[in-house]
Amino acid sequence: MAREFTSVGVVGLGTMGAGIVEVFARNGIDVVAVEISAAAVERGRATLTGSTDRAVAKGKLAEADRDALLARVDWQVGLDALHSVDLVIEAVPEHLDLKQRIFAELDRVCKPEAILATNTSSLSVTEISVATTRPNQVIGIHFFNPAPVMKLVEVVRTVVTSADVVADVEALCERLGKVDVTISDRAGFIANALLFGYLNHAVSMFESRYATREDIDAAMKLGCGLPMGPLALMDLIGLDTAYEILDTMYRRGGRDRRHAPVPLIKQMVTAGLLGRKSGRGFYTYERPGSPVVVTDEHTPVTTGAALADGARAIAKVGIVGSGTMATGIIEVFAKAGYEVISVTRGAEKSAKVCEAVKTSLNKGVVRGKLSEEDRDAALGRVTWSATLDHLADVDLVVEAVVEELSVKKALFASLDEICKPGVVLATTTSSLPVIDVAMATQRPADVIGLHFFNPAPIMPLVEIVQTIRTSAETSATARAVCAALGKTGVVCGDRSGFIVNALLFPYLNDAVKMLEASYSTADDIDYAMKLGCGYPMGPFELLDVVGLDVSLAIQRELYLELREPGFAPAPLLEHLVTAGYLGRKSGRGFRDHTKR
Ligand SMILES: NC(=O)c1ccc[n+]([C@@H]2O[C@H](COP(=O)([O-])OP(=O)(O)OC[C@H]3O[C@@H](n4cnc5c(N)ncnc54)[C@H](O)[C@@H]3O)[C@@H](O)[C@H]2O)c1
Repeated sequence: MAREFTSVGVVGLGTMGAGIVEVFARNGIDVVAVEISAAAVERGRATLTGSTDRAVAKGKLAEADRDALLARVDWQVGLDALHSVDLVIEAVPEHLDLKQRIFAELDRVCKPEAILATNTSSLSVTEISVATTRPNQVIGIHFFNPAPVMKLVEVVRTVVTSADVVADVEALCERLGKVDVTISDRAGFIANALLFGYLNHAVSMFESRYATREDIDAAMKLGCGLPMGPLALMDLIGLDTAYEILDTMYRRGGRDRRHAPVPLIKQMVTAGLLGRKSGRGFYTYERPGSPVVVTDEHTPVTTGAALADGARAIAKVGIVGSGTMATGIIEVFAKAGYEVISVTRGAEKSAKVCEAVKTSLNKGVVRGKLSEEDRDAALGRVTWSATLDHLADVDLVVEAVVEELSVKKALFASLDEICKPGVVLATTTSSLPVIDVAMATQRPADVIGLHFFNPAPIMPLVEIVQTIRTSAETSATARAVCAALGKTGVVCGDRSGFIVNALLFPYLNDAVKMLEASYSTADDIDYAMKLGCGYPMGPFELLDVVGLDVSLAIQRELYLELREPGFAPAPLLEHLVTAGYLGRKSGRGFRDHTKR
């Protein structure tokens, strides 16, 4: 017979514990909520009251239901209060010795049939379980932050956890309205194993001043559709907790350097900058515990005038190329009111590009997003040409030709001959070093990368790639142009993958390695990232959309430039590409798309 869970205990009412209390109480289960001191109990109670009051204010919870929810919680100091609960979830700080001590104590206090669960993110559930006399009733129930919101729960079964305990906990998760994935006891389970290398890498980008906190976060939100950027997420997780998780994953997970906590994290923890919970981490918050970011001394000035400081005036823009990116970029500039000269390699190509731009603009009209007059005005601003000589008097050139260094270098050498002095020369390359292109000209200070995302008219992000020779004026011009286009321009250095691809593809590659190691299935890994981290697509869905060949090429570039062993492309990815399984475009990638 399945166990009935009528009352549960939660130990530790910090970031996670307070949220877990809410999850149970919301679903009609009585909770004994335990902390080490009366003050800590009060903090936990305040978190729950704040969260439920916000839900009431937003109309998501009736006042009577809030009151009933709060009445289900019994606030206590000390573990003795847990003598009659059916299940305990421990959510104290991520230290093995502390958790083992608590489990030994819970084993003594709780009734013999009670299930003892840990919310650990990275420690070994097995090692925690052996501190008790009932390791077969010990299990991991890993909730995601914020627990009341995120749908996923990772249920972690050790080699000795009883099958009935697993089944009962799975049923409980369902009752809580959660989706569970059941996995074995490995550092970081699914989601954190894929998440923390990425978070740590983002911190190292920030630490090395590769890009600002705002730009790193905006890049991942706008470039990948993530609910929050990595540094804001570090603040939400808590830097102390993140440090412990990384440290444990490094030690347990094969000493992968990518999990060795970036030194800045430890410094911030020591300085008391723990993230939201302490009111300051990478960002500054209104008050401890508040999600509201306030300006501080690092907040960039984003007003129009300051943005345009030192920028050159741009009225006429040349766009070279006839592919998907060039077509989208022509539309973006023309709609924003710039005079555009499109240069392709022949009248036939120009006609095709012109047709594609018209079709796209017409779609805007049909969808009511663009008036007919605006469409006609935009088209009227574009001149179609097949000769680079027509770029003699433009103020900005955006190159979007084939991704081959020799072709781009030859083009930039020609532009150098043709264009007037003071022109900003931009490349849209997504993987080649911008400095190589810049050095093909006599004016490297005027050369910059403008990495648009596909489809350019829709994607709000542009990575502005500065080389070590790019002038401040060129950079200011690029920022002002992006703002005038209505795009968010993020500035970064000239390294493989810029911000987005450098952070995204190693994570995708890690997901392939996890699948290859048979730790979990593609479906469960996709679920874990969507429901645990709020990603719009799981890694295998995304790989199939992007194309496995494209993904492999990007991952190879990253590996070659950064020489990071952990970036070595997953053998399974290479095999699938060799087999012609390239994703949606070939009908089959990680999934078979021909039957859908
Ligand atoms: N922060 C996250 O995003 C996140 C997500 C999932 C899982 N986790 C895991 O949840 C656990 C808790 O992390 P957190 O971020 O909530 O930490 P936290 O530091 O915010 O909260 C921990 C709480 O435990 C209390 N505590 C310490 N010793 C105690 C004891 N002996 N008895 C009772 N309470 C005690 C502390 O007073 C504190 O309030 C960790 O194992 C962590 O890895 C964290």
